[in-house]
Amino acid sequence: MRYSDELIEEVRSKNDILDVVGNYVHLQKRGNTYFGLCPFHNEKTASFSVTPSKQMYYCFGCQKGGNVFTFLQEYENYSFQEALTVLAEKAGITLPEADSSAAEKARDTLRKRMLEVNKEAARYYAYALRSPQGEPGYKYLTGRGLSDDTLMKFGLGFANISSDDLVKYLRSKGYEDQLLIDSGLASFDEKHGLHDKFWNRVMYPIQDANHRVIGFGGRVMGDAKPKYLNSQETLVFNKSRNLYGLNLARSSRTDYFILCEGYMDVIAMHQAGFNMAVASLGTAFTEGQATLIRRFVRRVYLAYDSDGAGVNATLKAISILKNMDMPCRIISMEPYKDADEFIRNLGHDEFQKRIDDAMDSFFFELKIMERDYDLKDPGSRSDFADALALKLCEFEDEIRRENYLISVADKYQIAADQLRRSVIAKAAKGIKTRYEEPKSGIQNTMTTEALILKKQRYLITWLSEEPEIYPIVKKYIEPSDFTDPLYAEVARQLYADMDAGRISPAAIITTFDDEQDQSRVAELFNTTLVLDADTEKGQALHDIIYMVKKNAVEVRSASDAMDAEAITRQMNDKKALEELRKTTINL
Ligand code: UTP
Ligand code: MN
Repeated sequence: MRYSDELIEEVRSKNDILDVVGNYVHLQKRGNTYFGLCPFHNEKTASFSVTPSKQMYYCFGCQKGGNVFTFLQEYENYSFQEALTVLAEKAGITLPEADSSAAEKARDTLRKRMLEVNKEAARYYAYALRSPQGEPGYKYLTGRGLSDDTLMKFGLGFANISSDDLVKYLRSKGYEDQLLIDSGLASFDEKHGLHDKFWNRVMYPIQDANHRVIGFGGRVMGDAKPKYLNSQETLVFNKSRNLYGLNLARSSRTDYFILCEGYMDVIAMHQAGFNMAVASLGTAFTEGQATLIRRFVRRVYLAYDSDGAGVNATLKAISILKNMDMPCRIISMEPYKDADEFIRNLGHDEFQKRIDDAMDSFFFELKIMERDYDLKDPGSRSDFADALALKLCEFEDEIRRENYLISVADKYQIAADQLRRSVIAKAAKGIKTRYEEPKSGIQNTMTTEALILKKQRYLITWLSEEPEIYPIVKKYIEPSDFTDPLYAEVARQLYADMDAGRISPAAIITTFDDEQDQSRVAELFNTTLVLDADTEKGQALHDIIYMVKKNAVEVRSASDAMDAEAITRQMNDKKALEELRKTTINL
């Protein structure tokens, strides 16, 4: 069930966009607008804008935009409902209960109970680790070099050898059997009844970014298999959207995270002072996790195992990160297996050196690629040069591509000119690459349609910024003259608002459900057209109105049936257009 539009609008208007976004992005004032580095894509110069007068944000680099709701949905991965709840609470507005469905409420309650019972179980395991029965676990963990402080920080614990003591304990605290099963703490079978899922293992509680225990990993203390047992995914445990150690790494104050494979690697790194380490949760690194990382930092160092599986995992992670425009470097663990072993043997300083010397991901990929060629053999060497050229085509940005080209040529002793020619030839051949050779010398040629859409956007932006031009615009342009259906709908709402003597672009955004549509609406209100210094403003408005109208008339006549009525209308349109052409607008 939906909340009323009035209530949604009240929540929105009581949360200033500058406050909300300002919590996440450092903003600086320039005129009436604030600018900062975009949290949704990687950039060095600020193209992310927040305009208080419109209560909107918009990024000129990645075209993402919206209002306070959209921002939290994009940034925090909230649903609209969640964004609304958070903002209502901030503004001290109580949302009526009855509006969420019974099923939603039940899920909500279950989620809360699961987090509660997980917390209780983690407490129980931690207590057990320090009890006489927990001695094997305590010995195992401290034997691997972990300090008491570290045990505390990660909430490590012990599931002892008895197979139902946790169940008994949790039952005594009033948790029902079904909850214990659903949360993955207990299993049921005919023979044993309800019994603990984890026993005789050291326990690693897995926390989300907000320190809530969402699941567990349990390790055997010897070589038995499986080495780790993990909670299954539950209502609160999504393995592809969480990272081990993130609750601590998020406050590390570095601009990068170290991503590794193992719980123990994270713990060892944190203990050695590298508190920016995180790991995936026993499954392959995912795009969801990359998105999560990008909320906090812009760069990643990979510290995967040095074996074959680790190298493959590294290549996969590089590709995921590359797709999200997040640069990464690879830390070599040689001659040790993983970060934990490395640090135990060589310590903090040597590990820091490895971070400092970490290899750029592109060169890492080349290093792996190189293994398939014999660089001493001329034929194989040429094939390798070909493969290099193809790989260089992956860079969209010309300057980056050229920089890499030069250092690759240098590294592999290939003439840079030759390599460059080969890259251009490959790009021109239309091999599917990210970089395509421009067909003519002209870059960025906009199609006429793109151009006219831009004019339409500009007209809407202008209207929202200088509502005094509305009477003039309204005289010539109807909402249906905007040729994109979304533009037409926005224009319709904007006209209705202006007729009622108000204007609220951010409220218009809320009427679109889809996040992509919301970004497009934001773009509509944030389009600037660079005018020649000597163009007079009235003249500029006239030209834009004329072009938009002319295009609308053309589009309409192209789709008209050729009956008498249509012909009359077209003649009238033409006449009106001719009038408009001769009119002067004075501002
Ligand atoms: P590793 O075998 O590298 O584990 O597996 P580790 O963390 O270094 O453990 P130690 O040092 O042997 O104690 C990497 C990760 O893969 C998952 C776990 O998340 C582990 O941390 N894994 C591994 C499992 O889920 N189950 C397994 O049986 C093994
Ligand atoms: Mn290990």
